[in-house]
Amino acid sequence: MFDKLNAQPQDKILKLMGAYKADVRKNKIDLGVGVYKDASGSTPIMRAVKAAEKQLWKNQETKSYVGLAGDPEFASSMFDLVLGTSVSPDHLAAIATPGGTGAVRQALELIKLAAPTATVWFSNPTWPNHLSIVTHLEINRSDYRYFDSETGAVDFDGMQADIENIPSGDVVLLHGCCHNPTGANLTSEQEDQIIKILSNNGVIPFVDIAYQGFGDGLEQDARFTRKLASRLPQCLIAASCSKNFGIYRERTGILIAVTPNLKQQTITQENLAFLNRQNFSFPPDHGARLVTMILGSENLRKSWIQELEETRLNMLDLRHKLASQLCQKTNSDRFNFLGHHRGMFSRIGISPNQVEKIRTDFGVYMVDDSRINIAGLNKHTVPLLATAIAQIIK
Ligand code: LMR
Repeated sequence: MFDKLNAQPQDKILKLMGAYKADVRKNKIDLGVGVYKDASGSTPIMRAVKAAEKQLWKNQETKSYVGLAGDPEFASSMFDLVLGTSVSPDHLAAIATPGGTGAVRQALELIKLAAPTATVWFSNPTWPNHLSIVTHLEINRSDYRYFDSETGAVDFDGMQADIENIPSGDVVLLHGCCHNPTGANLTSEQEDQIIKILSNNGVIPFVDIAYQGFGDGLEQDARFTRKLASRLPQCLIAASCSKNFGIYRERTGILIAVTPNLKQQTITQENLAFLNRQNFSFPPDHGARLVTMILGSENLRKSWIQELEETRLNMLDLRHKLASQLCQKTNSDRFNFLGHHRGMFSRIGISPNQVEKIRTDFGVYMVDDSRINIAGLNKHTVPLLATAIAQIIK
């Protein structure tokens, strides 16, 4: 049987992790996978997470199953975090999932059940695993223009024109905040414009929000998602707790469906639970429980928000430092967009050959589309990276 298997394409982000590990050079710099690192290069467990884990260890009395959809308390904490008061909870169906990727996968499976002939439209570019999963599920896919690689900004005219032409009943995947891989995001006015188009053409939004709190702040980063959920009759939202709670390996995420009425809410909830049962049965609980405890406790929540804010401001500071170093070292404003981008990533706009050369010559690891993880830098490596980029583009 196994001899019939074909080799599968390797995920380029994960492949890069392996190559970085294997490099013996001491001064190598890892700007690949999207994991937050502090100034010392480690990925700390957040203070609130540690405290919640201690409490859990002391007080938890059973590890028996919770429910196919996960703990309803986790769902309501996440409704509050992601959606605030923008939608009444009786319109919401939800399942806990193994990470944000699990939520993306379940959303696509739900689309396949509800609208098997629909096409799902992705920004060009998008997170490579979006395309890999949709292809694996044999769902039709297409893309809309998103990024202007000349300016490093959103190609809003192109995006608008393409979204206007999507047929009714299709689904469009939108990044809630901190666009991955480009770092370029819509302004609030542009978001309004996109929502207007979607409400005219009957296209269903599917929001992937994996970095809430890493861009402009917890509330600001939820703005687009909340507007979409409150102004359009239906919407899917895949949210991740991996990055903003720093619980990557606990696999904590949620898929939320905003439905137009109670009847559709009920049938959607049943289908979501069914999909969990088919794919992995009960979702993991540990990370979801920590998140619920943190969001439900005044002290833990305060500590978490404070640390998340430190993380965000640290990344913002690194962005500005890198932009200013590049301005000096290249004697141009070509990289000023780095200061306008938000989140962990920016696509810096060098060619795949230059990406390879910077890896070979300077030990700098970035994804081959020139996406860098800003959080992989620190104040010592910012000037090294700026020097390397300046040399490479000469
Ligand atoms: C990334 O884009 O680097 C992260 O979302 C991690 C991953 O799984 O790819």
